[in-house]
Amino acid sequence: MKALILVGGYGTRLRPLTLTQPKPLVEFANKPMMLHQMEALAAVGVDTVVLAVSYRAEQLEAEMTVHADRLGVKLIFSLEEEPLGTAGPLALARKHLEGDDPFFVLNSDVICDFPFKQMVEFHKQHGKEGTIAVTKVEEPSKYGVVVFKEDGKIDDFVEKPQEYVGNKINAGLYIFNSAILDRIPLKPTSIEKEIFPQMAASGNLYAYVLPGFWMDVGQPKDFLKGMSLFLNHVQTTRTEQLATGPNIHGTATIRGSVLVDPSATVGENCVIGPDVVIGPRVQIEGGVRIQHSTILSDSTVGNYSWVSGSIIGRECHIGSWVRMENVCVLGDDVVVKDEVYLNEASVLPHKVIAVNVPSKDIIM
Ligand code: GDD
Ligand code: MG
Repeated sequence: MKALILVGGYGTRLRPLTLTQPKPLVEFANKPMMLHQMEALAAVGVDTVVLAVSYRAEQLEAEMTVHADRLGVKLIFSLEEEPLGTAGPLALARKHLEGDDPFFVLNSDVICDFPFKQMVEFHKQHGKEGTIAVTKVEEPSKYGVVVFKEDGKIDDFVEKPQEYVGNKINAGLYIFNSAILDRIPLKPTSIEKEIFPQMAASGNLYAYVLPGFWMDVGQPKDFLKGMSLFLNHVQTTRTEQLATGPNIHGTATIRGSVLVDPSATVGENCVIGPDVVIGPRVQIEGGVRIQHSTILSDSTVGNYSWVSGSIIGRECHIGSWVRMENVCVLGDDVVVKDEVYLNEASVLPHKVIAVNVPSKDIIM
């Protein structure tokens, strides 16, 4: 089977992390977001993946080619001159997708257990043009809402509804037959606003209810929430991948689900967790307390600092006795001086922070 991953879009809601790299490459649980998807696709026998790119194609190509080779997947780059939205890229890649076999289409910023095998079975069973994976959420207005019957047949699809229509939403994972290609013009087109409603109206779209966890990790708060759900899932399915404590990293105490890259170091008397991801070559000095946070590769955290509910970008240097909390997001290569307090701060790449940020602010 083939798949197309939508990797365009500017990722503005995940700034400042997306100022230095495209959203699908931002590391989630120590892997580029989209690599979680590529691995799951390869595991069900997908041999060709079309990457629909409209932005920073070179960076994506350089990084993903290496992974695709390792997975034995052929990568095709389908480059848009102007962003074609969420449906237009299918028209542009038509020659790579059409044929007798159905194909996958994925949003690149969603994380779950990717039950692709079950989705394919469901798709073949109902025999219509398209299958959408759906999940239940508390805030449906941020997503595409799907109204469907017990057998899965979709009656209505409403993107980002202003008024309540339901709480089952589009999870951003699809399977389509080639017939969908006849519905999509080669111009900027929204699959959610222009294609799904007409497919639903003609009885051609079915909903597959995702078992287990799901999250769109394209915004900082949701990224952290998704990280917790993901770590909890790893805890129950492959617990050997998580750090165990106390004492596996010197005299550090590990609490709850914590993922530490083997090349990272954690100092004496640290308390790490619950829900923490520590990236490659990160150095945590002594007495540091980290919870509900992701530290991306090559960063350092100085003695006795406290990090809670935050994302630290790549190659950042956090001083000693720093306190950082409430969804702080540091872009790449940020320096935070000793004893600084950051609360809900968003810091652009390459900045040096020497004064406190006591309330929500963007430092540029
Ligand atoms: N190639 C290409 N070109 N890709 C694009 C473009 C474009 O012009 N615009 C957006 N994308 C990609 C994004 O990179 C992302 O992978 C996907 O399309 C969806 O875009 P988002 O910007 O993340 O959309 P959203 O999160 O607001 O809403 C979508 O996802 C929700 C689930 O997370 C919709 O599909 C909703 O219906 C859905 O519920
Ligand atoms: Mg999204």
